[in-house]
Amino acid sequence: MSKMEVKTSLLDNMIGVGDMVLLEPLSEDSFIGNLKNRFDHNEIYTYIGSVVISMNPYKPLPIYTAEKVEEYRNRNFYELSPHIYALADEAYRSLRDQDKDQCILITGESGSGKTEASKFVMSYVAAVCGKGQEVNKVKEQLLQSNPVLEAFGNAKTVRNDNSSRFGKYMDIEFDFKGDPLGGVISNYLLEKSRVVKQPRGERNFHIFYQLLSGASEDTLKNLKLDRDFSKYNYLSLDSATVNGLDDAASFRTVRNAMQIVGFMEDEVQSVLELVAAVLKLGNIEFKPESRVNGFDESRVKDKNDLKEMCELLGLEQSVLERAFSFRTVEAKMEKVSTTLNVAQAYYARDALAKNLYSRLFSWLVNRINESIKAQTKVRKKVMGVLDIYGFEIFEDNSFEQFIINYCNEKLQQIFIELTLREEQEEYVREGIEWTNIEYFNNAIICDLIENNQNGILAMLDEECLRPGTVTDETFLDKLNTVCAEHQHFESRQSKNSKFLTDHSLPHNCFRIQHYAGKVLYRVEGFVDKNNDLLYRDLSQAMYKANHSLIKLLFPEGNPSKVNLKRPPTAGFQFKASVGTLMKNLLTKNPNYIRCIKPNDKKAAHIFTDSLVCHQVRYLGLMENVRVRRAGYAFRQAYEPCLERYKMLCKQTWPHWRGPVRDGVEVLLTDLQVPVEEFAYGRSKIFIRNPRTLFFLEEKRRQCLEDLATLIQKIFRGWKSRRQFLLLKKSQVVVAAWYRRYAQQKKYQKIRCSALVVQSFIRGWKARKILRELKYKKRCEEAVTTIAAYWHGTQARRELRCLKNEARSKQAVSVIWAYWQGNKARRELKRLKEEARRKHAIAVIWAYWLGLKVRREYRKFFRANAGKKIYDFTIQRIMQKYFLGLKTTTLSMSPIDKSWPAKPYGFLEGTHQELRRIFHLWRCKKYRSKFTKEMKATYEEKLAASELFKDKKALYPSSVGQPFKGDYVELSKNPKYQKLNSLVEDKVLLADVVSKINRANGKGAPRMFLLTKNNFVLADQKTGQVKTSVPLPDLSSVSVSTQNDGFFALRVKEGATSAAKGDFLLSSDRLIEIITKLHRIGSASADRNQIKIDISDEFLVQFKQDKVCVKFIQGAPKNGNGVICKRKNNRLLEVSVPSP
Ligand SMILES: Nc1ncnc2c1ncn2[C@@H]1O[C@H](COP(=O)(O)OP(=O)(O)O)[C@@H](O)[C@H]1O
Ligand SMILES: [Mg+2]
Repeated sequence: MSKMEVKTSLLDNMIGVGDMVLLEPLSEDSFIGNLKNRFDHNEIYTYIGSVVISMNPYKPLPIYTAEKVEEYRNRNFYELSPHIYALADEAYRSLRDQDKDQCILITGESGSGKTEASKFVMSYVAAVCGKGQEVNKVKEQLLQSNPVLEAFGNAKTVRNDNSSRFGKYMDIEFDFKGDPLGGVISNYLLEKSRVVKQPRGERNFHIFYQLLSGASEDTLKNLKLDRDFSKYNYLSLDSATVNGLDDAASFRTVRNAMQIVGFMEDEVQSVLELVAAVLKLGNIEFKPESRVNGFDESRVKDKNDLKEMCELLGLEQSVLERAFSFRTVEAKMEKVSTTLNVAQAYYARDALAKNLYSRLFSWLVNRINESIKAQTKVRKKVMGVLDIYGFEIFEDNSFEQFIINYCNEKLQQIFIELTLREEQEEYVREGIEWTNIEYFNNAIICDLIENNQNGILAMLDEECLRPGTVTDETFLDKLNTVCAEHQHFESRQSKNSKFLTDHSLPHNCFRIQHYAGKVLYRVEGFVDKNNDLLYRDLSQAMYKANHSLIKLLFPEGNPSKVNLKRPPTAGFQFKASVGTLMKNLLTKNPNYIRCIKPNDKKAAHIFTDSLVCHQVRYLGLMENVRVRRAGYAFRQAYEPCLERYKMLCKQTWPHWRGPVRDGVEVLLTDLQVPVEEFAYGRSKIFIRNPRTLFFLEEKRRQCLEDLATLIQKIFRGWKSRRQFLLLKKSQVVVAAWYRRYAQQKKYQKIRCSALVVQSFIRGWKARKILRELKYKKRCEEAVTTIAAYWHGTQARRELRCLKNEARSKQAVSVIWAYWQGNKARRELKRLKEEARRKHAIAVIWAYWLGLKVRREYRKFFRANAGKKIYDFTIQRIMQKYFLGLKTTTLSMSPIDKSWPAKPYGFLEGTHQELRRIFHLWRCKKYRSKFTKEMKATYEEKLAASELFKDKKALYPSSVGQPFKGDYVELSKNPKYQKLNSLVEDKVLLADVVSKINRANGKGAPRMFLLTKNNFVLADQKTGQVKTSVPLPDLSSVSVSTQNDGFFALRVKEGATSAAKGDFLLSSDRLIEIITKLHRIGSASADRNQIKIDISDEFLVQFKQDKVCVKFIQGAPKNGNGVICKRKNNRLLEVSVPSP
């Protein structure tokens, strides 16, 4: 359990009462008594409802520690004893959680602790809002802007050693999470008169003393300053050192703060230079110098300070010097220069010093704003802290006090507006039963000062702008006439006779009954201070300075921007900025801290009843308590109320369907809140006692905790369930995988074992079978061996038997053969003998016969009978030979060379002769069958053979080809009909040839026609005639000896067709073409025969030039035929494949 859980309450250990609302009985005495009681016990904070009363303890109290911050953090306002932190926490949380812009209004007299309070608020907010590098930097800058502004804007006064001499309103900007983003500071009317003069017992602004005490020797030397305060006219000496204030240490703090806020080193230097310049300026003194016109003219007395100041600011000494002696007045485009007397010169000097300082101060504020401004454009939540100078009543009150007090009037007005009047009006509006409470409304005083028609400020402005002599007295006169009737205005001259004899009211003064008391104002200086004029010569002199910051501070000194219009008066400006501030404050949720000072001596432990009583009265605190007590401490529209507390009742949680007001009613009844504790307004619920609210809040907090626990419980349950399900799912997966793995392993093991067993069994079985098989085999082998042996034995026995048998058989057969042979030989011998005998018998018989015949026929034989027989025999043979020829069929083809073989050697000659004769005969027979055309054809062939046989290698291939003449069927082909009709004579030859292009040796197909009189070259496709050359114009034809179709037709020189030159053509039917061409020539008597050159190199005359066509033997024929290539300009090479 954390220490935050410890139950504390406003009521615990209470000294007096912590909340004035609880005071019983309520009277002024008891009120002051309570404050005193608490003050004596160091309880400086007391509540009136949500307003915090703060008594200045004038001593450090241990109630602003980090532990205290933690204690008050996120706690209910009424939960702990009253503290400024409780208010700061409430404001911050309401800003962060409910998105309501806040403002913290700190009011009270000078020295009552406003500035301290504002710092506590800021440091508390800084401590509780977000953390992080960037956020901390922003916080640090926001906090460190305080020491800088305090050094330049605070001073020791009789009331307060660290009195703010300017009003400050700071907007701290937060993002949606409540982290600070930056801030904007507005400053109001610095009391600049202090620069040149301080009342007795007071000091100039801290920075002057801090600079002189704290700066290093070097810095002082650079700034041409002396550490001794007494050297400077502008520094009052009687209270130059203040108890408890270490100026030197403060200077270091300020320098450090400036660095943190983001001032550049040269900026700090410039600022210090300006501060030094102000001090120097105070030391410039003037002396009168008489002039002829009788007037005195001022002159600078000792120029050393002037010189040093000019050096500091980079000014030209003479320019400034002149500005202190003369004044240029510009009127209607005319410039008039008037001299200044000594008093005027001092006035000018002081005006310059005041202006320089106050402008420097405004520049500082702007510079700080630049550093601390929020860097984002996102929507910001804003907490404004207003620490404005408190209500002031001095012995001698001037324009500044008037303005300050006016501002305090306005703040009081806001307080009244928002707490008293607004509150009461709201009750009426909401229809809540209400008895009106009287309070003093200071609107009437505000009106006296700020009314546009007859307000004091308006009168002052009117007086300042009026032509003619204007003095403070004329201003007072004016007030006396205009404001005399006003209840709160008093003056000796006013028509109100009751003041005529009032000696406490001097003649040059007027008195205002402020809400906080009567204040006597001396009119002296009102006009001047309101005008706030600086001679133009001075501002122009400043603008000329060679110092960037000074130039920036006096923009009106720029001669190119001369503005004749008067600047707005100080009063007017202040009124406007206060107006803006009020508007701004009205848009925010106010939080009040009302500061009270216990004594006038700045002393701890002293409680001056009368002083406190006065403050309590004018601050309207009693009325505040009464209103608070009579009314209701807290109110809220029904809807947000129900929304906030609906979880406290079953009927309203989580949703209430009916009207919201009923919902709230049900809720409060259910919670058993006593009926007198609340009232139902028209749109809001009013809760009388803060404790009731606290009760609700506490319940809500508990309920939220329960709800949070419930949510947590459900979330945790859900999370655990999810986790569990996930685990379960995972477990199943893991288990499945594991089982699979285990089973796999087991299976593998079993399988292995099975394999082993199997292999053993198989091995055993196999061995068994093997054994059996081996046994069987051995048996078989044994059987086989036995059988083999047995068979062998058998066989051998058989063999032996057979062999014996065979031997006996052979012997038989040999014997038989021998016997047979013997028999045969004997037979043969017998036969031969018989044959010999027979032959001999026949021969003998023949001889005998012959002898017999010859003996018989000898007588009949003639002497030459032998010859005759011989002849007869020959004749017989011949006869037989010829008759044989007759029966033999012989081929009639002239080219058949076959002939029967010769029968007898002696017929050789006859045989050849017969063969020759037969051949001649059959040729004759063949010829006799010829027609006229065939004859012509053969004649042509003959001519061709005469021309080319053994001369051109192409010739043999042409022998077998018939010379057809027309190869394109010219007359039948419709494509060539026109061509056919053009040719008059009979076409002897028509064929497609290629015409060789001399340029590249490539052939182009052409139709070639030959007639009796000319040859024609025509387009192959269209049949259009390209060339027609009369044959007489041809002189010769050139062909090669090779197996190619190239031929050149040469045209006679001078012939009409010679213009085109010779023709180089190529055709497979070259033999036929040339033969025909040649024969035409030989046929006609009047023509010379065309010469035929057969050579492997000839010249062709193309149009102009002669080209040599050379034929060479190419590689043996392997598919690609004759290739013609252009070798050079004069050579076409034709490569003919060797056969
Ligand atoms: N809460 C406080 N604790 C201790 N001292 C305080 C406190 N508030 C004010 N003082 C003293 O009172 C002096 C004047 O307070 P300050 O805030 O400057 O008054 P104000 O701004 O109202 O003129 C401070 O310098 C400080 O010494
Ligand atoms: Mg202050």
